[in-house]
Amino acid sequence: MFLLMLLFLCRLFPELGASSNEVDFAFDGFLGANLSMDGTATITPEGLLRLTNTTKLLKGHAFYPPKVRFKSPPDGGVLSFSSTFVFGIVSGNRDLSGHGIVLALTPTKDLGGATATQYMGILSTSNNGNSSNHIVGVEVDTIQNPELGDINANHVGIDINSLRSVASNPAGYFSDNDDGQFKNLSLLSGEPMQLWLDYDGEKMQLNVTLAPMGVAKPRIPLLSATIDLSAIIFAEMYVGFSSSSDPFQTSHYILGWSFRVNGQARALNLSKLPPLPKITIGKKSSKSWTPWLSSASAVIFLGAVAVIVLIMRRRIKFSELVEEWELQYGSQRFSFKDLYKATNGFGEEELLGAGGFGKVYRGVLPSSKLEIAVKRVSHDSRQGMKEFIAEIVSIGRLRHRNLVQLLGYCRRKGELLLVYDFMPNGSLDKRLFYQGGEAVLSWNQRFRIIKGVASGLLYLHEEWEQVVVHRDVKASNVLLDGDLNGRLGDFGLARLYDRGSSMKTTHLVGTTGYIAPELAKAGKANTVTDVFAFGVFLLEVACGRRPIEPSAPEEEVVLLDMVLASWTRGAIWDAGDPTLLGEYPAEEMELVLKLGLLCCDPLPAARPSMRRVMQMLERDVPLPEFSSNYLNSNMLALLHNEALHEQWASFPSASISVSLLSGGR
Ligand SMILES: *[C@@H]1O[C@H](CO)[C@@H](O)[C@H](O)[C@H]1NC(C)=O
Ligand SMILES: *[C@@H]1O[C@H](CO)[C@@H](O)[C@H](O)[C@H]1NC(C)=O
Ligand SMILES: *[C@@H]1O[C@H](CO)[C@@H](O)[C@H](O)[C@H]1NC(C)=O
Ligand SMILES: *[C@@H]1O[C@H](CO)[C@@H](O)[C@H](O)[C@H]1NC(C)=O
Ligand SMILES: *[C@@H]1O[C@H](CO)[C@@H](O)[C@H](O)[C@H]1NC(C)=O
Ligand SMILES: *[C@@H]1O[C@H](CO)[C@@H](O)[C@H](O)[C@H]1NC(C)=O
Repeated sequence: MFLLMLLFLCRLFPELGASSNEVDFAFDGFLGANLSMDGTATITPEGLLRLTNTTKLLKGHAFYPPKVRFKSPPDGGVLSFSSTFVFGIVSGNRDLSGHGIVLALTPTKDLGGATATQYMGILSTSNNGNSSNHIVGVEVDTIQNPELGDINANHVGIDINSLRSVASNPAGYFSDNDDGQFKNLSLLSGEPMQLWLDYDGEKMQLNVTLAPMGVAKPRIPLLSATIDLSAIIFAEMYVGFSSSSDPFQTSHYILGWSFRVNGQARALNLSKLPPLPKITIGKKSSKSWTPWLSSASAVIFLGAVAVIVLIMRRRIKFSELVEEWELQYGSQRFSFKDLYKATNGFGEEELLGAGGFGKVYRGVLPSSKLEIAVKRVSHDSRQGMKEFIAEIVSIGRLRHRNLVQLLGYCRRKGELLLVYDFMPNGSLDKRLFYQGGEAVLSWNQRFRIIKGVASGLLYLHEEWEQVVVHRDVKASNVLLDGDLNGRLGDFGLARLYDRGSSMKTTHLVGTTGYIAPELAKAGKANTVTDVFAFGVFLLEVACGRRPIEPSAPEEEVVLLDMVLASWTRGAIWDAGDPTLLGEYPAEEMELVLKLGLLCCDPLPAARPSMRRVMQMLERDVPLPEFSSNYLNSNMLALLHNEALHEQWASFPSASISVSLLSGGR
């Protein structure tokens, strides 16, 4: 009887029972929900938890406010737990989006130090993979990041202390109806989907299951991993969502969420969940004119004529070339009208710079308020345009924090416009040499930029699905983002090669002073000629001067010579930028200068790969033994006779390149 009463009491006052701190909550929509939110996270008037809005590169977090007990007693094993949530990723863009959503167990609600982008607002470059993170998460990710080992751009993964998932699978589910047949799901479809997370504390088994909303939880989970969480999570942890947005307009929504320790999370009442907003794909400019025309027909004849004339004039002003084969690139194709508006009609005040390939303008896209840089390149021939655009679209899929993101393009008669992410701190060369403008960068900033550019180039050479040869690595093609990270830009010259296919001889492309001897001779650009240019870039950044300085004393005109001469004198760091004197550790300066020389070895086979370069910069591998004599001897003679003097002869036209846009293609 007493027992019965106790049981009864426990049901009335659950906090009296053993389950006192066993969490069990369910949100069918979030109206009135008390969550701890920061960043872009907010609860919409409809009751959706919106983690990110369409502003780029921000992060949002939403946590269940109190800590949740996961071990009882505190030094015991991890209790079983279970959770389910319904989410939706809504992108203004059919096949591109910002990163994704993580449901995570974290020791803290303060994730202010985390990075947006691929770190999804939960980790950062500095702590990713660190076992002192104590983070367990399940990610739904719509971008493939090779640096994080992502399998594709539409996957679900289990993350332990790192966004390099311990287990992952393409998004989809094993259908109970069709004998467990696997059905693909597109996370970006804009349709709501439900995810279940179940951890069995005894078997140490973590299951993740996905299905379209409304489909009952499939019997076979999408992911099932045996993971001992006892060393990873603390007795008490916070649970919540983290998300981050990318350059593309994407909102991440949670419609409902339940969580329970020691039991099955409560089923969500799907009929109570708030609806997701519908996708609005940017409309084509041509369509938006129809209402104008129909209303024009209602007004008097003269008025109609006036309107039509106006339309015709605007049509000509905003006319662009769109061909059948381009329709597949819908989202990467910008309308000229949008770009025109974004850049204030390509106004002089928005001009960022002008180079050999055209003018670059700053702009703000009217719909998303995204800051962009637009490069206008003239092109005459339509020959090869199809292949070129295919390359552009392909390049747009490259993602790396040390590359300038190409967002898309627009084509007009005789003109091509390339749209990039805007880099607020301009190009690196302006920060290396005093030009009466921006402050010169410190050694530490330069060293970080060097490592960043190396990692960007390594990605292009080895880590993406195709080998990308940049062809024009140099300080003026490295742009600085808001945090002064170096990002390689200007892929206008890059050509894509399928892995394994022989690299074709093409027109000589590049910039004087950065061109490897064999490239000057045979016109064959490949990853090894990129390494040569990277070597010149290293010297440029360390010495704070251009590779060829016509006004310098004769023996110093060529930067390579100057560095070699310093080395021969036994003090290579003498060549370092004098404005940095006393600022750098001598061994770092020596490393950068010698590595620069090593990359500029006239014998292509002797140059290190970018992976090797990266290892040497990180000091995981020592520099190989080589002496100044080695380079100084006849090798250098070869370099000089066959390359630099040829290049020198063409100076100061600066660029001996043949644009693949205006010719050759
Ligand atoms: C997104 O959220 C941020 C931070 O709350 C805010 O500054 C920004 O204006 C929002 N953007 C949009 C498009 O609502
Ligand atoms: C919301 O949660 C916070 C933190 O746990 C708590 O201090 C506050 O009283 C709660 N508010 C409501 C209305 O429940
Ligand atoms: C991991 O993080 C801890 C605490 O932030 C730090 O002390 C440690 O150096 C980090 N370890 C690595 C390998 O970065
Ligand atoms: C599912 O996706 C995979 C790769 O993502 C693809 O190979 C396969 O053809 C797709 N299956 C269906 C039925 O669409
Ligand atoms: C995980 O899935 C397997 C079926 O593949 C099932 O036997 C097991 O009980 C599941 N574990 C949990 C914790 O749900
Ligand atoms: C779900 O919500 C609807 C509408 O509030 C309600 O009529 C229905 O009974 C609920 N279903 C369950 C299983 O609670």
